[in-house]
Amino acid sequence: MTDHTGAEVRGIDLTRPVSAEAKAVLTNAFVAHSVLVIREQSLSPHQVLAAVELFGRVFLQHNTRFALPECPQIHYLSNQDRFPDGRRYIPGEGWHTDHSNDARPPKATALHAVTLPDRGGDTQFANMAAAHAALPPVMQDRIADLVAIHVYQSSHSTRKLMTLSDANKERVPNAVLHPVVRTHPESGRKSIYINPIRIEGILGLDHKEALPLLGELLQHATADRFQYRHRWQPGDLVIWDNRCLLHKANGDYDMDQTRYLYRVMLEGDVPR
Ligand code: SIN
Repeated sequence: MTDHTGAEVRGIDLTRPVSAEAKAVLTNAFVAHSVLVIREQSLSPHQVLAAVELFGRVFLQHNTRFALPECPQIHYLSNQDRFPDGRRYIPGEGWHTDHSNDARPPKATALHAVTLPDRGGDTQFANMAAAHAALPPVMQDRIADLVAIHVYQSSHSTRKLMTLSDANKERVPNAVLHPVVRTHPESGRKSIYINPIRIEGILGLDHKEALPLLGELLQHATADRFQYRHRWQPGDLVIWDNRCLLHKANGDYDMDQTRYLYRVMLEGDVPR
């Protein structure tokens, strides 16, 4: 899709058994391109699960409020949801990487388009490995050994998340520590690993130093040259690599139209 991010996959029907050869092509392409756009699928929630399990084991999402009753490992995303005060909730707005407040954040997230608006509602991706490689060496050295504190909802974030139920809170860590630069366990490439929605601070730095630094890294990493912008087509199944990408949804479409997708994540490693 761009020279750094995204590959389109055609000619496969994920409702049918997938050969070992095809599975290897898909899993290698996933690591090489970070986003796979698998076109023209029409999958039930259970079929989404089987398709995505080609790439790994399912990670259980922290907020079970969006779980589908008939297949709870699959959640939905919908622009028709509202906060308790009645404001519309647009899931995924604002740059982030998924569930970085987990000790082993999910390596991948997949979305399958069920209902799309006529226009808009793209998902943007920023390649954090390309962004890291393009940093001046002095900045690479400055951030090389920094460790960030990730929480469910950063007090610095402008994007507010749905609050967790008491039962969900019990299984979600209060805070976890992750390196600001992580090495991809499969490709070996280094990526900037930041998350404006979840990072509460950086160990050993006060906020006066940490917040501008995080802002500078975010601005650098989300420049157009590091982005792939996905324009959804009906039937798309998109799977992306959370270990080396930030992503964000866009609530820029007619809210009288529904945007509804199935969502599932896959288990990852401890970032190192
Ligand atoms: C997400 O952040 O997982 C949602 C992205 C989107 O809805 O485009």
